[in-house]
Amino acid sequence: MGFYPEEIIREVRDKADIVEIVSDYVSLKKRGENYVGLCPFHSEKTPSFTISPKKQLFYCFGCGVGGNVFTFLMKKENWTFPEALRWLAERVGVRLPEEETLGKVSEAFKLRREIFEINKMASEYYHYTLLKAPEAERARRYLASRGILAETAEKFNLGYALPDWDGLIKFMRSKGIGEDALLKAGLVIPKSSGRGFYDRFRDRIIFPIKDVTGSVVGFGGRTLGKGEPKYLNSPETPVFNKREHLYGLPMINREESRIILVEGYMDCISLHQHGFTQAVASLGTSLTEQQAKALKRYTDEVFIAYDSDTAGQAATLRGIGILVKEGLRVKVITLPEGKDPDEFIKARGKEAFEELVTSAQNFIDYRLNLAKNGLDLKSQDGKLKFVKRAVLILAEIEDSVERELYVQKISGELNIPRKTLYEDIDKVRSKSIMPNIGSKYKNSQLRDNNKELTKIKIMSGFYEVERNLLKMMIEDDGVREKVMEKLPAYNFIDARHRKIAAAVFEMVQKNDPVTPKDLAVKLRDDPDAAAELANILMAKEKPDGVMIDDLINRVKENYLKLAIKKIRSEIHRAEKIGEIKKALKLLSTYHRLKHEIEQLKSDLTRKGGI
Ligand code: UTP
Ligand code: MN
Repeated sequence: MGFYPEEIIREVRDKADIVEIVSDYVSLKKRGENYVGLCPFHSEKTPSFTISPKKQLFYCFGCGVGGNVFTFLMKKENWTFPEALRWLAERVGVRLPEEETLGKVSEAFKLRREIFEINKMASEYYHYTLLKAPEAERARRYLASRGILAETAEKFNLGYALPDWDGLIKFMRSKGIGEDALLKAGLVIPKSSGRGFYDRFRDRIIFPIKDVTGSVVGFGGRTLGKGEPKYLNSPETPVFNKREHLYGLPMINREESRIILVEGYMDCISLHQHGFTQAVASLGTSLTEQQAKALKRYTDEVFIAYDSDTAGQAATLRGIGILVKEGLRVKVITLPEGKDPDEFIKARGKEAFEELVTSAQNFIDYRLNLAKNGLDLKSQDGKLKFVKRAVLILAEIEDSVERELYVQKISGELNIPRKTLYEDIDKVRSKSIMPNIGSKYKNSQLRDNNKELTKIKIMSGFYEVERNLLKMMIEDDGVREKVMEKLPAYNFIDARHRKIAAAVFEMVQKNDPVTPKDLAVKLRDDPDAAAELANILMAKEKPDGVMIDDLINRVKENYLKLAIKKIRSEIHRAEKIGEIKKALKLLSTYHRLKHEIEQLKSDLTRKGGI
């Protein structure tokens, strides 16, 4: 990434008109200076998707997506920045430098391209072998015995690796591809004795794993019979990381809004074959943050369908945590003990699985039910323990209406007054929210939740103040240097604001013009920051009549307040575990910050600011 020269990126950007590009996707109407249309990133009936031709930015006031023409294409087409750049360059007639002349970084790029090419050839070879080779009869019978139809094998490009030690090596040699290249693609293993290589996948059903653009990134291979390990995966290569990819993601039905998350390759394939074309599988690891982020690009709601044994429950709980953190709604499908989705749907059929989906539990219900495990709710002791666990779960619910509904439910079930539950919940919440406003706020779930947003704003007001200051810094050439003198970028509490401020400062230092367009390009690696920028610049409200000094001081004050709060809790922690030296050191920082904030406050009062 980032290996195309800035001038070229700028040229492409200047020639591409965001209104023209977006109108390929959205029907736009002129409204005042701007264009509006129905947002292509969430479903809506009245248009809140807005484009400013002047600023060459878009922003959706409904779902908060925003950015420039690159961001739009990256989001809409699931492209990386270089992919969006190449497409746009072609469209507006800018010639990009040959990849070969781009130097060192493009070596990595070339290697990736080479591996993709080899993977594609390998997957075709394995697939052809499965369909045609006489020696693949066993494999064909195995798949048939598992109920896999020919069309499914076709759709997933399933294959078979012969039992030979060098089936793939020989095939690739005939195509002029050597073993060194195969090693880089993870398809061969060096012999432990002496020189040479042998095929990694032998006598296995092959599951090619694709990324969202459809390129083959790696493979999974299953034994036909017993054999160990049951599944073998490609090792990590420059194009494959099993923590990043999800099996089946490129095959999902994009029209469906929900995604069903399963554990195994066969579960995924089997669900697709039975019409559940929104199934994806993680790749033999528990779900990762990267995978959750990938899912978030396609859906708002994930149904987890893991085994219902203890290990499956633990994996489900972990999965819930990770998905919720990315702002996804989560439901849990409960399978009968001992059956995975593949076994279930084969035994009981499509309708039975559809019923499971329909009756899937909201993740809160699921957690509350699990919390009852091993407790006798009729006994005083069991009730007490359950309430303790339940309070922790309810305290995490950000939406107050939703929280109220659960409080009602539990209060009814256990015959405990709602007020009592609320008192306990509030205790937990007041402990957890304040010290990490900054980090909580990054949580997209919070950002999506307007009620919570308002609450945080009222709590400290930092958000609007930072936005107003950034708006002035970008729109008014006169104030930038002044802000830079007084305020380092890290004084902005919101992570996105910090990024934007740092970008502005860097441009000023380099004497580059600070325009919305240039800024958006600078923020291309951070879609959250780009969206926030678009929002700030396109929001209707104007920071009328505010003094710049006042804004600077307020941003600084908020930062100091938060820093003091954090350091106070660090001091407590250090004291608790007996690290007195550390506590003393922290204490002097604490005093310094205190002093700074006192001074600031006296400044503000002098000017009548507070
Ligand atoms: P399971 O053992 O539950 O198998 O592994 P499965 O998916 O039900 O497979 P079938 O139905 O017996 O064919 C679940 C997932 O864990 C990973 C694979 O991704 C598998 O799909 N796994 C399992 C491995 O990576 N290696 C193994 O040895 C076993
Ligand atoms: Mn299975």
